[in-house]
Amino acid sequence: MRTQVGIIGAGPAGLLLSHLLHLRGIESVVFETRSREQIESTIRAGVLEQGTMDLLVESGVGARMQAEGALHHGFELAFEGKHRRIDLTGLTGHSITVYAQHEVIKDLVAARVAAGGELRFNVSDTSLHDLDTATPSIRYRHNGEPCELQCDFVIGCDGSQGVSRAAIPQALRQDYERVYPFGWFGILCEGKPSSDELIYARHERGFALVSTRSANVQRMYFQCDPKDSVDNWSDDRIWAELHARVDSDDGRKVVDGKIFQKNIVGMRSFVSTTMQYGRLFLAGDAAHIVPPTGAKGMNLAVADVRVLTDALRAYYDEDRNDLLASYSETALKRIWRAEHFSYWMTRMMHRLDDASPFEQRLQVAELEYVTTSRVAATAMAENYVGVAPV
Ligand code: DHB
Repeated sequence: MRTQVGIIGAGPAGLLLSHLLHLRGIESVVFETRSREQIESTIRAGVLEQGTMDLLVESGVGARMQAEGALHHGFELAFEGKHRRIDLTGLTGHSITVYAQHEVIKDLVAARVAAGGELRFNVSDTSLHDLDTATPSIRYRHNGEPCELQCDFVIGCDGSQGVSRAAIPQALRQDYERVYPFGWFGILCEGKPSSDELIYARHERGFALVSTRSANVQRMYFQCDPKDSVDNWSDDRIWAELHARVDSDDGRKVVDGKIFQKNIVGMRSFVSTTMQYGRLFLAGDAAHIVPPTGAKGMNLAVADVRVLTDALRAYYDEDRNDLLASYSETALKRIWRAEHFSYWMTRMMHRLDDASPFEQRLQVAELEYVTTSRVAATAMAENYVGVAPV
């Protein structure tokens, strides 16, 4: 069996790449260890940058996002008992849409299935071969049977724990990492929105974030010990913590709801270079991780895929190798910008146990500045909507 592009992983990166290649007449096969039901129900983040929204719409998979997602023109920063607005659209001319990642996944899977695309779920024992030759291949098991697919290129979209990054020889790789000593406790609840826009809160007790999923389902997070267990958190304790961190002195309050999902995620920043080895290219979490503050993860995966699609199109249509050769360098510019932004926002908004009282006051001074100075607010806004120059 053969195809042009073998794609490892059916997350946003792998599925979108397969869809965009199909629109350019390039054939691909996507491999995924999990089932379709699992990938369509895993709860992840939910903020789409302007460029992500535009790409989904231009490529014909944005209709449900436009109908069911919520277009936001700003967000709020809460600190010292007050809430201040960052006017994304007023400052940058761009906006964001709140639409859950697994809904994007559903839309992409539906588009691939409708176009007769090859998606292989529940595969196991995936391994990559001959990556430094013109005829790489992917071996895997499906229903217990050993199988092999020959291709022109292998694209690793299989996340940070996948096989793809590990297939690049260690001697050619440089990894950069920062692990944070805190995590996010996430909840989904039935209830009314607390606010028209997202609220990012800094409080002595720790960070909190009020987001949304729909008129009746809300998503909220608060900083926690990454080793804590959801079992230690009753609903009452969660609401008390969110009120303490987010409610404002002038009477703005988080609206309680019926919690139906709780999870804890750890936080780290990670970049692996290079993103290319022979005919293997990495995209999304396989090559880089950001902490969730600032919501860059899925947007970076989409940005990688955009660059890679252009490079593969130039290869097939114009016999050009240059865009493939510069893929890693091109993608890494945006990745490092987003790494800095999410690190900066994480450090400004979280309770840092090693921070002295002096450094804690600096966090507040910085929040005062970004919410008062038009220049500072614009810098934050252009990073948030994803149009910062790189
Ligand atoms: C959401 C997640 C984020 O990491 C963020 O910065 C904003 C919103 C969310 O899941 O809605």
